[in-house]
Amino acid sequence: MQKLVIEGGKPLFGEIITQGAKNAVLPVLAACVLCKGTVRLANCPCISDRYASARILTALGARVTTEGSSVSVCCDDADSPNIDSALMKSMRSSIIFMGALLGRYGKCTLSCPGGCNLGPRPIDMHIAAMKRMGAEITDEHGAISCNAPKGLTGCRHSLSFPSVGTTENIMLAAVCAEGETVISNAAREPEICCLADFLRACGAKISGDGSGRIVIEGVRELYPPKDPFEIIPDRIAAATWLSCAACAGGELLVRNCNPAHLEAVIPIFEQTGCRIRVFGTNIYIHRRERLTAPETIRTTVYPGFPTDAQAIIMAPLCTARGTSVFVENIFENRYRHTEAMRSMGADIRAEGKVAVVTGVPALHGTVAEAPDLRGGAALVCAALGAEGTSEIYGVNYIDRGYEDTERLLCSAGADVKRISE
Ligand code: EPU
Repeated sequence: MQKLVIEGGKPLFGEIITQGAKNAVLPVLAACVLCKGTVRLANCPCISDRYASARILTALGARVTTEGSSVSVCCDDADSPNIDSALMKSMRSSIIFMGALLGRYGKCTLSCPGGCNLGPRPIDMHIAAMKRMGAEITDEHGAISCNAPKGLTGCRHSLSFPSVGTTENIMLAAVCAEGETVISNAAREPEICCLADFLRACGAKISGDGSGRIVIEGVRELYPPKDPFEIIPDRIAAATWLSCAACAGGELLVRNCNPAHLEAVIPIFEQTGCRIRVFGTNIYIHRRERLTAPETIRTTVYPGFPTDAQAIIMAPLCTARGTSVFVENIFENRYRHTEAMRSMGADIRAEGKVAVVTGVPALHGTVAEAPDLRGGAALVCAALGAEGTSEIYGVNYIDRGYEDTERLLCSAGADVKRISE
């Protein structure tokens, strides 16, 4: 078991380079199943969810080679359309292989995916979408068998909610399906555009990504782009480093990010009194004084405030002057970090969708368990600004989405150690 031991109260000075986006690399890795030849990817984050995707690809018969942030995938000899339940349970994104495998083989067998416990995370929209495209799907004791003996056929999907994963699964199923697929009320997240860019670079015909109405004309085959395809920067990791500086104080330059992807997040930091400057692909943050509570934060789909940044931005607001209000509209159970924050002295009341944070003058160190990936990252942020020592367990959650957490923070002056027990 590992823990992060954090000595709080040390301001951050320096710079942190943003990793590639977790939620972009995972669907792109699944998309490799549809490509003939070797796909080369650059700027892939070194995180455990990426390794879980690589294990799934290897189990399917693919050859995966990695060198730091570069990954090559060749699925030419892959012949299995099935993913066993242990691999499916290793992360939520395993479900994205459904569309890719159906697109390649016209069949697959898998089970319900794992992932962080953020409340019920059903896959009904994924299943309904594959059925609309001609797949017969049965669920026997948790084994989900999908069959489209005549292949998938393009159709119109009008999503009841702009689900990120469902949009990605439909895109993967549709790129090599017969005819045209239209997704109305599609997710507009930057990670959707990254997947569309990758598929287009492989020869797919896709338009409208980023707009809420995506149109895909099926093609026969996909071939890897000549140059390595670069994964976009991780907007939530960038927001996390900003929040670390907002908690600990100091001056930090978050480099190699895309500030346009953080348009709903940057103004919140500004409202709290942090000085923010954007230079090209860099964001500078300076926190000198006690922060002030911002306007109500309502999580919603992109381009609104991301649910993945909710816990992270709550950390600095625990010690802000005034009362901050959060409304979580995407997941039912995304306030599990508040208990650990309370053990640090925070005054937080959370009920249903709403959390009310009344700023206290200071937090103190604690021993706590990361409840999930972003909740764990939020505890790290809070511990950096707290007085005394914190021990954060459940590091495996944090490692799902963050590369080199302690090294990056220490390079900016934090005192964070990883200890194996
Ligand atoms: N939903 C359904 N049925 C479905 C699919 C989704 O009811 O078949 C519901 C979910 O239960 C949830 C809402 O729709 O309440 C949003 O789910 P969505 O499908 O958009 O999310 P996801 O694809 O499961 C991705 C990210 C999450 C991020 C959400 C929302 C990946 C691998 N995960 O999840 O990222 O929070 O979109 O933006 O892309 C994280 O990085 O920590 C993380 C949880």
